[in-house]
Amino acid sequence: MQLTCLLQIICLLNINYANLKLINFTNITCETMDTTISTIEYCYIGHVNELKNYMSLRYALRKPIIKDIGFHLQLMIRSNGWKPFLYGIDIDMCRFWKSNYNAIAKLVFSLLEGHTNINHSCPYKDEKYIFIDNLMNTDISRKIRGLPFGKGLYALNVEWSWKNISRVRAKIYFEVLKV
Ligand SMILES: *[C@@H]1O[C@H](CO)[C@@H](O)[C@H](O)[C@H]1NC(C)=O
Ligand SMILES: *[C@@H]1O[C@H](CO)[C@@H](O)[C@H](O)[C@H]1NC(C)=O
Ligand SMILES: *[C@@H]1O[C@H](CO)[C@@H](O)[C@H](O)[C@H]1NC(C)=O
Ligand SMILES: *[C@@H]1O[C@H](CO)[C@@H](O)[C@H](O)[C@H]1NC(C)=O
Repeated sequence: MQLTCLLQIICLLNINYANLKLINFTNITCETMDTTISTIEYCYIGHVNELKNYMSLRYALRKPIIKDIGFHLQLMIRSNGWKPFLYGIDIDMCRFWKSNYNAIAKLVFSLLEGHTNINHSCPYKDEKYIFIDNLMNTDISRKIRGLPFGKGLYALNVEWSWKNISRVRAKIYFEVLKV
C-alpha cells in the first residue's frame, strides 16, 4: 500500500516535471549601425538564481521614427556552427501593428507583453527610448511550452531597419535545458 502511494507521488511529480520546458538566457549582444538614430543604453542578462535569469535592453531613440520600419527575425540553432532553425522573416512593422499579419512575429511580440514599450502602432515619436525589461526565462519557458524546441543552443537574431537600411541589431542567445 505504502509503495503504490509512493510510486503515485513520484509519477505525479514526474508528470509535472515533464510538462516544464526550461530555457536559460546565455548571452545577449546589441549593436547600433547608425548612432544618429539610436544608441545602446544597456543590454544584459541578469542573474536571479541558478534556474532563473532575465534579459533587459534599451536603445535610445535619437529622432522620431514615423514610418518605414522593418523588422527582421531569424532563429538559429547551434550544430557545427550556427544554422537557421526556422526561415527568416521580414515584417513591415507599421502594417503589422494594424493587422498582426505574421504569426511568428505575433508569437514573438506576445512573449514580450508587459515588458516592452514597443507594442504600439506607428509612429514612434514621443518615446525617448525603446526597451525590453526584466524578461524572465521562466515566463518564456511557460509561454513556449507547446512549441517543438529540442534541447540545444539557440540564437534569436533581430534587426530593425528604417527606410530599408539596417539601423540596430540584437542577438539573444538561449539554451533549452529541458523539454
Ligand atoms: C544560465 O546561463 C548563465 C549565463 O547567462 C549561466 O551562468 C548559468 O549557469 C546558466 N544556468 C544553467 C542552469 O545552465
Ligand atoms: C557574450 O557574447 C560576447 C560577444 O560575442 C562575448 O564577447 C562574451 O564573452 C559573451 N559572454 C558570455 C558570458 O558568453
Ligand atoms: C499589444 O498590446 C495590446 C494592448 O496592450 C494587446 O491587445 C495586443 O495583443 C498586443 N499585441 C501583441 C502582438 O503583443
Ligand atoms: C530594400 O533593400 C533590399 C536590399 O537590401 C532590396 O532587395 C529591396 O528591394 C528594398 N526594398 C525597397 C522597398 O526598397
